[in-house]
Amino acid sequence: MEQNSIKREEWNSKLGFILASVGSAVGLGNLWGFAYSSSEGGGAAFVILYIFVVLIVCFPIFVAEFALGRTTKVSAFLAPIKAAGNNWAPLGWLFIIAPIAIASYYAVVMSWTGEVFIMSIFDNLPKNAKESANFFKYISEGNHVFIGQIFSLGLGSYIVSGGIKKGIEKLNLICMPILFAILFILVIWAAFLGKAGEGYNNLFLNFDIKQLTNPTNIRLAFSQAFFSLSLGIGIMVTYASYLDKKSNLPKQAVQISLLDTIVGLMAGLITFPIIYTFNMSSSIKESTIGTLFTTIPTGLGEYGSLGRLMAVLFFGLAYLAAITSMVSLLEIPVSTLIDKFDIKRKYASIYSFILIFIIGIPSVRNISFLDNLDAMAKTLLIGGGFLVAFLMGWVLPRSLETELENSGSSLKTKYYLKFMLRYITPVLVAWGFIISLYDLVNKFSS
Ligand code: TRP
Repeated sequence: MEQNSIKREEWNSKLGFILASVGSAVGLGNLWGFAYSSSEGGGAAFVILYIFVVLIVCFPIFVAEFALGRTTKVSAFLAPIKAAGNNWAPLGWLFIIAPIAIASYYAVVMSWTGEVFIMSIFDNLPKNAKESANFFKYISEGNHVFIGQIFSLGLGSYIVSGGIKKGIEKLNLICMPILFAILFILVIWAAFLGKAGEGYNNLFLNFDIKQLTNPTNIRLAFSQAFFSLSLGIGIMVTYASYLDKKSNLPKQAVQISLLDTIVGLMAGLITFPIIYTFNMSSSIKESTIGTLFTTIPTGLGEYGSLGRLMAVLFFGLAYLAAITSMVSLLEIPVSTLIDKFDIKRKYASIYSFILIFIIGIPSVRNISFLDNLDAMAKTLLIGGGFLVAFLMGWVLPRSLETELENSGSSLKTKYYLKFMLRYITPVLVAWGFIISLYDLVNKFSS
């Protein structure tokens, strides 16, 4: 293990690290999760809660994960043990189980995404709401889903097997600028749709104050924030373990959270005008995971060749966003296998691929299984976030301080983060976790 930490790879550049972290953050969660959660949670009330959670709860945890990764310089599974002893092994286990679970169904949703992308190229999009139900059935059921799942997992594992610099960093340096360019084009195009205004209204202005205290809305805001920022399961711990000693952790955490939130909002600026212009707003209330795959293609399919082109761009964008997230999920088991068993990256990638493929089989076969696994994994993230905050705030305050010092943080920043991680963040995140658990139990028993 020690040997490994000496020759541990580092990111080539600060930009590479930031883009990789933004790449991990920006994913299918931003494209469907954000729009879906805000439409369920009463529009603006969800957006407000979300931003509150990102600023007050997630930002300090972000820095805590970074600090844990950079002090220990090992992968997520080993980091809590190396930093705080065997009592913290359960956190290591959480850090490895949660990303494997998420990757297992993420690959399935990527399979659907890829299929819609291909269908939009060949003009096979549904033309009306009636067709759209069958369309979703078609892309999400049957053995062909395995093809997309295996392809997506395989592509991710192949990239991860290339290592940090030549695999993950390079992928993100190429994909993230393309992703931002497509996003801009789509936001501008959507602004000219007939009912763009109505869409914006529903996304931002439809404010129902009661929703601020609704447990489902609170759960959605917490889980969406943690999921979208890739927080609470050690991904940022792992990415930061490849970071040099000097880079400024709080500053990078701010940049990454900001970019991720902007992308979530921009995705809403694309999806909401489409949904309202093509009168699909009722179907968005009914489905969860299917939303993106029924409403968006239907709207665009009705819109002739320009609509088709936009569908190609939209689902191409979604697939790019997803692959840059997939590699971060895969990096956890891969780096853990390398650190723990001292095996080659190539083999670690192959073993992870096989394991996640097998765990993903029930999600290929059964959408409600996938949906429930998603809700559970997201709640786990909140629990992981609590433990990380507690670990860095109470058990390892010195390491936190050293890392902030290495970052060149000002006294004010240091004081703020230490104070938050001790007294505010753990309390709020524990509160969010309990409400989410309560709401989840209700969801399952209803
Ligand atoms: N953040 C990604 C999204 O929004 C998904 C993701 C990638 C993720 N890595 C993660 C979620 C780690 C939780 C934890 O789609």
